[in-house]
Amino acid sequence: MSATAPVALVTGATSGFGQAIAAGLHGRGWIVYGTSRGLPPEPAAAGPRMIPMDVTADEAVAAGVARVLRETGRLDALVNNAGCGWAGALEDTSLDEARAQLDTNFFGAHRLCRAVLPAMRAQGRGRIVNIGSLAGIVGVPFQGFYCASKFALEAYTEALRMEVKPFGIHVSLVEPGDFATGITAKRRMAAASGAGSAYLPRCSTAVARMIADENGNTDITPVVRKVIGALEARAPRLRYPVALPSQRLLVALRQLLPQPWFESLVMSYYRIR
Ligand SMILES: NC(=O)c1ccc[n+]([C@@H]2O[C@H](COP(=O)([O-])OP(=O)(O)OC[C@H]3O[C@@H](n4cnc5c(N)ncnc54)[C@H](OP(=O)(O)O)[C@@H]3O)[C@@H](O)[C@H]2O)c1
Repeated sequence: MSATAPVALVTGATSGFGQAIAAGLHGRGWIVYGTSRGLPPEPAAAGPRMIPMDVTADEAVAAGVARVLRETGRLDALVNNAGCGWAGALEDTSLDEARAQLDTNFFGAHRLCRAVLPAMRAQGRGRIVNIGSLAGIVGVPFQGFYCASKFALEAYTEALRMEVKPFGIHVSLVEPGDFATGITAKRRMAAASGAGSAYLPRCSTAVARMIADENGNTDITPVVRKVIGALEARAPRLRYPVALPSQRLLVALRQLLPQPWFESLVMSYYRIR
């Protein structure tokens, strides 16, 4: 292992974006630690090194970051990628379900930031990329708490970026639209969103549209390129949206259309009234 190669920690590297980002960074000469909630596989001779970490567990986050620092003596980049999706009408979503969504997608990122920032400040440099979403810019019906977690990450990243800038630390958001990853199969529905829910037909229609969008967009390399670009840019931007043209247009129209028109557009996009 080269002592001079930069070191990255990528959370949620068992599938989807995280796995591809970890492999992409490794291919560019980074020393990469990826995290896995399950038992990590035996260390590969070559490739990202997998370490155990559940981002909802304080001790696991502290132990994982400590291990990277112990083994490499540095930590140049954190990619807060671990995430999951809950869907269902807001009225049907229990407080426990809502907390589970925010604990992974939002507080998980905060746990990691708090764990890595002391070392990055001591180094006088560091990069953090938070994986947001276009669902952090536009509220999507029947994905309300997923959107809330990603909207929260937007505000968090904006604020953190200014707080840590004097320490030589750059913070960015990569905001993907819908892509085919493990998130589709692993998405959880609020328990009360099934039979008996007043929202069932519209919720099913909207979620089906979302799944079709995800399944139809199988090339995740643009997301990987944006993340690597943000980590290697001399002056990284705050936001890097990455989505199909139809979804980027939808987001752009938010600024241009009167609110009732935009709302109708989103509802017709998801084929609900
Ligand atoms: N796919 C999309 O359309 C899309 C769009 C915008 C943003 N995103 C965001 O992209 C990020 C990556 O998701 P993905 O689409 O690549 O889905 P994915 O294939 O399901 O990958 C999610 C990763 O996060 C890990 N993870 C979930 N909960 C965790 C926890 N509590 N602690 C540690 N790791 C955990 C998963 O590990 P396990 O293997 O243990 O489950 C997995 O490695 C997420 O933040 C997601 O919100 C996705």
